Amino acid sequence: MSATESKDGGDAILERMNNNQVMGIYGTRKWRFLFLTFALIIMIYAFDVLLDLRQFAPVGNHRNWTKFGYDRQASVHGRMKCKQFTAELPNITRERHALAPDAFYNLVFNNTYLDEIEFIHKAHGICDRENVGEFLFMVKLISDATETAASFRHAIRKTWGSVRKRSRWSIRVVFAIGQTENTTRTNAIDKESRRYGDIVQGTSADSYLKLADKTIMSFRWQQEYCSNAMYVFHGTHDIVVNMDKLIAWVDDFYLHNTSSERVYFGYPMFNPRILHEGIYKLYSPVQWPAGKYPFYHPGHGIIYSMSFIRQMNAMFCRTPITNPDDCYLGAIAEAMGAKEYYFRNFHADYNGKINKNVVYLHLGHTGKMKRNETEMYEWMAEIYNGFIK
Ligand SMILES: *[C@@H]1O[C@H](CO)[C@@H](O)[C@H](O)[C@H]1NC(C)=O
Ligand SMILES: *[C@@H]1O[C@H](CO)[C@@H](O)[C@H](O)[C@H]1NC(C)=O
Ligand SMILES: *[C@@H]1O[C@H](CO)[C@@H](O)[C@H](O)[C@H]1NC(C)=O
Ligand SMILES: *[C@@H]1O[C@H](CO)[C@@H](O)[C@H](O)[C@H]1NC(C)=O
Ligand SMILES: *[C@@H]1O[C@H](CO)[C@@H](O)[C@H](O)[C@H]1NC(C)=O
Ligand SMILES: *[C@@H]1O[C@H](CO)[C@@H](O)[C@H](O)[C@H]1NC(C)=O
Repeated sequence: MSATESKDGGDAILERMNNNQVMGIYGTRKWRFLFLTFALIIMIYAFDVLLDLRQFAPVGNHRNWTKFGYDRQASVHGRMKCKQFTAELPNITRERHALAPDAFYNLVFNNTYLDEIEFIHKAHGICDRENVGEFLFMVKLISDATETAASFRHAIRKTWGSVRKRSRWSIRVVFAIGQTENTTRTNAIDKESRRYGDIVQGTSADSYLKLADKTIMSFRWQQEYCSNAMYVFHGTHDIVVNMDKLIAWVDDFYLHNTSSERVYFGYPMFNPRILHEGIYKLYSPVQWPAGKYPFYHPGHGIIYSMSFIRQMNAMFCRTPITNPDDCYLGAIAEAMGAKEYYFRNFHADYNGKINKNVVYLHLGHTGKMKRNETEMYEWMAEIYNGFIK
């Protein structure tokens, strides 16, 4: 009896102790939990501040724009070949954390077939209308030969693309198009080129799966016929740009001298996985060692400096040409040792709301809805007016 009592009593004590202990542990856990949550919030906040601080580029002492590849006087140099482009091959060293294939570092490819790209239209004269005392800022948009693309161009010319001057910049817009076999479309593009003089059309393919060829064509045009542009905004036709915000960035690059050397700027894809099927599937003549791409900015909107474009053109001649094109450019940027430098509010996907904080809105799939010229213009004008209101 007494043993049982004692056992019962002992159990009761044990239970109380356990309860106490449980309560004790629970108390500690609660504090630890609160503390960790608090620390996490602080860390996220600090990380945020750090990210935002990255927008302030280091300030340099020297300004020699010639060194940056910008050519104030001449705007028309004429055709160049890989032989000339590769004179500007950057110094390449593979870092330990590099993700791009070896072929981006040992430069054994020899893509001299790129030299066969001819220009059907080259927006003759668009870059030499610069006023004295102003610098040229180029907006170069990848477009295509379809009718929908023509509606986009029409809408851009009448909305944000009509801004021709801001701050110290003369602003010019060109559209890069590949070659199409459809004679109706070819004739329409010829007519558009005569009328607006802003079409850069090359004999490169016009299809999505050959986007890199069209991008390369547009980079070559930039250096061959428009090297007096100090900076270039390279994008696609399905975006609406807040020009004041874009120019604020370009001014910032201009004022912070050293950062103007090799600008590759936008808002990147983070930890981008390499896809092996679907529309964004990887097409490359070499194996990619990692499951993800190097740091890259999505092709719908990137700011480049002329020095960056020149080195890119050199690298196109020596690296395995890969699609999607923006991932390819990112791999080259990694090999070139370009700075991973970005701004969080550079772009957003358009979701029906106007986000005034961003530099541009990407219309993406919402833009692919069938719209005729008038409708496309009204739609884009509404979004653009939302920015400037
Ligand atoms: C840029 O360089 C010029 C000439 O070297 C200098 O006068 C100017 O202060 C520099 N600007 C900045 C923001 O460093
Ligand atoms: C600027 O750089 C170019 C090419 O590196 C050089 O030829 C030129 O002398 C430099 N100009 C000045 C003012 O330093
Ligand atoms: C590459 O490195 C060599 C030697 O360090 C240097 O002389 C050359 O100017 C560098 N080229 C470029 C484009 O930075
Ligand atoms: C690249 O190919 C061209 C034409 O076949 C040749 O003339 C040139 O020497 C090659 N260059 C290299 C670096 O292999
Ligand atoms: C050419 O394009 C026009 C207009 O987009 C289209 O109606 C026509 O079917 C196309 N022709 C061919 C042969 O694809
Ligand atoms: C465009 O579409 C709208 C609505 O469908 C129509 O009212 C308008 O006439 C069309 N405009 C042109 C130029 O085809």
